Amino acid sequence: MSTRIVSTGSYIPEVKVSNADLESIMDTNDEWIRKRTGIESRRYEDISTARMATEAAKDACSTVDVETLDCIVVATYTPDSFIPTVANQVKANLGITRPIPSFDLNAACSGFIYAYQVAHAYIVSGIYKKVLVIGVDFNSRYMNFEDRSTSILFGDGAGALVLETSDKGTIDTIIGGEDDINESITMKNSTDYSNPFVERDTKKESYFEMKGSDVFKYAVRIMDKTIKDLLVKNNLETNDIDYVISHQANQRILDSGARSLKIDTKRMLSNVSKYGNTSSASVPILLDEANKKGLLQSGMKVILVAFGGGLTYGAVLLEWI
Ligand code: UT7
Repeated sequence: MSTRIVSTGSYIPEVKVSNADLESIMDTNDEWIRKRTGIESRRYEDISTARMATEAAKDACSTVDVETLDCIVVATYTPDSFIPTVANQVKANLGITRPIPSFDLNAACSGFIYAYQVAHAYIVSGIYKKVLVIGVDFNSRYMNFEDRSTSILFGDGAGALVLETSDKGTIDTIIGGEDDINESITMKNSTDYSNPFVERDTKKESYFEMKGSDVFKYAVRIMDKTIKDLLVKNNLETNDIDYVISHQANQRILDSGARSLKIDTKRMLSNVSKYGNTSSASVPILLDEANKKGLLQSGMKVILVAFGGGLTYGAVLLEWI
């Protein structure tokens, strides 16, 4: 018993912000951003995380009857509210009135891989047959536009897929984490309001903060290790893999991964130039793009891989059906 991806979908916000647009508000320049990251533009959402997630879900469900879904799992660290969750809102927005479970999980930029593994485990254990998995982040809401080292990197978006029971498809999944001893990626909670009975720090700023070069080194090391571990575990070699669909953080990380794994750069897919880093959404957006372009043919082997705050990492090895 395994799972297969029945359909994919995505939502890209309309507001496009180029490197030149950023130049007009901070001390940066197009050449630095392109050279150090490969990013040319990013998209910013104007409404909500739930709106983006719902649009991606509708796209993924255009060929699926939503009444056949058994569960909805949303990966995000930028929900509109803690309660209701983004997944609760997606369920309502899709018009599903059956009492199916819907919940969010947060594993920073690796969230979509974690959510995929949760859905896969539910299905292979026989609990559910069909699960909607969404990755969405509204990063621009948490950017400090006075911090040029982070604000130029991120964008907003959502991607989704429907996973269902099948004889083959998903071959293996790995998720894991290492301690972030240097606090290299943080986004603090800003809702620590005063309480008459306890004294506490009531600092309310909650910007995304990152020690870029620490994270860069982690990303390069962990992507290489995770993919190699997955291949060894399944008696495969890099030559057996048709495409790697990685988290889109920086073109230099993707190039370095392709070099160390000895994968042709054409097989390390990328759209970071158009959307920047969309966190939990980057893998499913790129997967949907590859699917809609017709790149993914039956029998091809594909690796989905991500890394991020926490520190977290994860990968999925699958055969496209
Ligand atoms: O999704 C989570 C995973 N995230 C990641 O994987 C991100 C990983 N990190 C990175 O992608 C890179 O570390 C960055 C793109 C964030 C930074 O690139 P870098 O090559 O590590 O640059 P740096 O931080 O070492 O900075 C080099 C120089 C500095 O100037 P000095 O000190 O050499 O004079 C920075 O002040 O570049 C300067 N700089 C900028 N200049 C123009 C930093 N940001 C900018 C900017 N525009 N936006």
